[in-house]
Amino acid sequence: MTAINWAALNAAAKAASEQAYAPYSQFPVGVAIQAESGKIYAGCNVENASYGGTVCAERNAIAAAVVAGERKFAALLVYTPQSKLTPPCGICRQVIAEFFTPDAPIASSNHLGQQQSWSLQQLLPDAFTPTYLAASEKISKDS
Ligand code: THU
Repeated sequence: MTAINWAALNAAAKAASEQAYAPYSQFPVGVAIQAESGKIYAGCNVENASYGGTVCAERNAIAAAVVAGERKFAALLVYTPQSKLTPPCGICRQVIAEFFTPDAPIASSNHLGQQQSWSLQQLLPDAFTPTYLAASEKISKDS
C-alpha cells in the first residue's frame, strides 16, 4: 500500500486551480489524485458557453491519469476556492467509483490550510461499479 503524500497533493491541486477555466461560475477548482504507482496527476474545471459542456476538475484529473496509463488510485484531493470545504459532485463521485476503492480518502482543502476527508463509501454508498456488469444477464422480451 502506497503512503499518501498529502503535501504533494495539496501543491498539485492548488497549482491546477490556478489554470481553471471558470468564467461563468467564477469557481476555479483544482484536483490532484495519487495513483497506486505513487505518481500524482492534476486537473482543473473547464467550463463552456453551453454550460452542460463543463467538465469538473475531478474528471479532468482522472482523464489525465488514464491517458498516462494509470488505472488504480489511492487518494483524491479537491482544492476549493472558498473557506467551506467541498466534496465532489454526484457525477464525479460515479466516475471516481470506477477507479477508486470504497475506502479511498476523498478530501478537500482550502487557502486556510484546512482539510476534510471522506471515504468514497461515505460519498457514494452501494456505488454501481464495473463488477455489477460482470453479473449481467440478458432478459428476453418474451419471457
Ligand atoms: N466543480 C468542480 O470542478 N469540482 C467540484 O468538486 C465542484 C464543482 C466545478 C464545476 C463548475 O465549473 C464550477 O465548479 C461550479 O460548479
